[in-house]
Amino acid sequence: MFHVVAVFMLLIGYGASQTKDDCPAGVPRDNTLIIHSGFCFSFNFTKIPHKDARATCEKHGGTLALVKTPDLQDFLYNQLAHYYNHTHDKVWIGLNDIAAEDKFVWEDGTSLNYSNWASGEGPNSGSIQHVFQHNTEDCVILDVTARGKWHDYSCDHSVVFLSTTPELHSFICQYTPVGRSSTEPTQKSAGTSPSTTEISVQPVVTLATITNPCPPFTCDLDCGMDGFKKDATTGCSICECDI
Ligand SMILES: *[C@@H]1O[C@H](CO)[C@@H](O)[C@H](O)[C@H]1NC(C)=O
Ligand SMILES: *[C@@H]1O[C@H](CO)[C@@H](O)[C@H](O)[C@H]1NC(C)=O
Ligand SMILES: *[C@@H]1O[C@H](CO)[C@@H](O)[C@H](O)[C@H]1NC(C)=O
Repeated sequence: MFHVVAVFMLLIGYGASQTKDDCPAGVPRDNTLIIHSGFCFSFNFTKIPHKDARATCEKHGGTLALVKTPDLQDFLYNQLAHYYNHTHDKVWIGLNDIAAEDKFVWEDGTSLNYSNWASGEGPNSGSIQHVFQHNTEDCVILDVTARGKWHDYSCDHSVVFLSTTPELHSFICQYTPVGRSSTEPTQKSAGTSPSTTEISVQPVVTLATITNPCPPFTCDLDCGMDGFKKDATTGCSICECDI
């Protein structure tokens, strides 16, 4: 009998997860509510002006979505395009330069250090359209029709050839689950399954090394499939075939 002493699996830590129940009360619990990277995201396909969209999120203590990482950008885009099938939608996100022209900030006050502007959009763009309209385009939409790229849009009305059209768009609210500290969780990579309703911290698995108590073994015999005989007490191989 060969002596494999043991393989230990030590479970350090334990599962911690958030569910839709941890999202603020009053946020509808249906398939428009999804948890990702430790935040609750509520997709709302009612097309309304930016300030009303923002107020809807703030009513439950949230903001429009703060798309600060490529991971989150990909997740939100994939949800919109491939889960909700809103391939022709444009949605308000929580980025604007209302306070200072061309200085885009997230609604939580943090500055922009990841961005996904379409070409010719965003601050300091030299495009003709931007030069003429940048003073009036202070709010930002994620454009599903343009693979999720961002465009600055007028927050309420656009004037095109002297005719005024209201800017009414879908939006995404972001909420910190209730009862969590405000420290941002580490972003998890990939994991864009649309059916994900909770995130969980995987337990850390540590493998103990396998200890072999037998002395180094050499033997000139070729025992083929039969293998070597084992010492009855130590379990170590001895130089005889196990026939
Ligand atoms: C979407 O926003 C509208 C307008 O504020 C609100 O009446 C509605 O309850 C929201 N729906 C969801 C699913 O949050
Ligand atoms: C979106 O379209 C796909 C493929 O057509 C379909 O399987 C899926 O159920 C649709 N999703 C929703 C939310 O309607
Ligand atoms: C983004 O900003 C955070 C703090 O706001 C900073 O810690 C981080 O290093 C920045 N990342 C990049 C890529 O600049």
